[in-house]
Amino acid sequence: MQDQTFGDDFRTQLDLLMRLRRDVRRFRTDPVDEAVLARCLDAFSMAPSVGLSEPWRILRINSETARAAALKNFTTANDQALNGYSGDQAETYSRLKLTGMQEAPVQLAIYCDDGTAKGHGLGAGIMPEMRRYSVVAAVTLFWLNLRAHGLGLGWVSIIDPKQLAHDLDVPSDWRLIGYFCIGTPEAISDTPELEREGWEHRHASLPIETR
Ligand SMILES: Cc1cc2nc3c(=O)[nH]c(=O)nc-3n(C[C@H](O)[C@H](O)[C@H](O)COP(=O)(O)O)c2cc1C
Repeated sequence: MQDQTFGDDFRTQLDLLMRLRRDVRRFRTDPVDEAVLARCLDAFSMAPSVGLSEPWRILRINSETARAAALKNFTTANDQALNGYSGDQAETYSRLKLTGMQEAPVQLAIYCDDGTAKGHGLGAGIMPEMRRYSVVAAVTLFWLNLRAHGLGLGWVSIIDPKQLAHDLDVPSDWRLIGYFCIGTPEAISDTPELEREGWEHRHASLPIETR
């Protein structure tokens, strides 16, 4: 393949894409075009992975039963999380919308196969967690690709992985990376929703230490 150089216009667009990525929790309910979704999922085939292990495993959650189990799991975990806060923080937490599971047209549970033989263990011997980091890196590409196609992704981690593995009948070597809601966002802002709701702020500058 010919070496490709990227111009200023592309860099401006890429910057905009990253700036407007957003974690999305409010979706329109209309279906996602399957061809567009497939194109976005192609990001996984381009993603980096330790030893080229490609340890991602994707479960598409379609059935009403599986969706109801996942939503119940979230609701229980979220109630528990709320109990861990008090005062103003508890009040703010209770107002946050932390999942789009009620309405997102596409829902995926993404796992890392910690037992994969692919990659022959290269790079994961001392730090096997590198396989999970590989899945996170792939999800990030997928996230940006969705956004480039006018779609949004919401990452749900407030979930009991053991219960979810039981409900979805997941192989024992798989570890949950996240439950992902996908669809057309109701709106897109240049500011994270948690910042708009007064929960937390982005750093004003990038903290880099030197040694
Ligand atoms: C590993 C990971 C787990 C997350 N889990 C949740 C979650 O359970 N619920 C939620 O509303 N947002 C979740 N988020 C989204 C973050 O809250 C969000 O990325 C952050 O507030 C910055 O907002 P932005 O993604 O729109 O820039 C998660 C993000 C990451 C990377």
